[in-house]
Amino acid sequence: MNDQKEKAYQAKATFFDAQVQAEWAAKAYGAGEMEKLERIFEITGPLAGLRLLEPGCGTGRLTEVLAQRVGPLGRVVAMDISPQMVAAAHRRLDGCDNVELYQGSIEALADRLGTFDHVICHQVFPHFADHKAAFGMLARMLEPGGLLVISHFISIAEINDVHRNAGTAVAADLMPPAETMRRWCAEHRLCIDTWQDDDDGYLLCAKPNG
Ligand SMILES: C[S@@+](CC[C@H](N)C(=O)[O-])C[C@H]1O[C@@H](n2cnc3c(N)ncnc32)[C@H](O)[C@@H]1O
Repeated sequence: MNDQKEKAYQAKATFFDAQVQAEWAAKAYGAGEMEKLERIFEITGPLAGLRLLEPGCGTGRLTEVLAQRVGPLGRVVAMDISPQMVAAAHRRLDGCDNVELYQGSIEALADRLGTFDHVICHQVFPHFADHKAAFGMLARMLEPGGLLVISHFISIAEINDVHRNAGTAVAADLMPPAETMRRWCAEHRLCIDTWQDDDDGYLLCAKPNG
């Protein structure tokens, strides 16, 4: 990663450190959020025994759910650039032997992590320093038959509004438009299984062709 991206991640880490106790980061999932997550699990099917990658895990809210779903024979590999988020995730996931938690960017860690049955980017994709490069990197980390899941609890329009209004470090972290995501799927030989962008949130699930 070049110096400029490194600096941008340092600024974002500081921004997210300060958010660690915010309701969106810390509060237990409500029924509406669990319903939205269920849509992902309907598409992935059973997760027991699988190896999942979860970049940008925050305080580990989804990581905890994923750890329960993959069970003792599966593994969730999660990371976050924010030291405070990772510390909170460690507290939440204390005793979860099937979770590997790292502090750092997915870009910096990817080379040593191997491949995954599914890659789940929940509420993080816009924050990647280079969307196109990150998309390609995550696509390459997928096992055949796996799914790349990019999800948000809100629509693209809302995500982009929230980020523009949130503060300088994430103000430019906008979700790429649909046609760009479709093009990247095609370039990386991913076939789109699910596409949703409405009041129920954003959900793109794509799998390697063939
Ligand atoms: C909006 S938060 C979402 C956190 C969590 N996924 C959730 O839904 O509660 C985005 C998180 O991604 C982290 N992040 C941003 N870019 C990242 C990267 N390149 N690698 C790993 N984590 C990253 C941030 O530090 C932040 O905690």
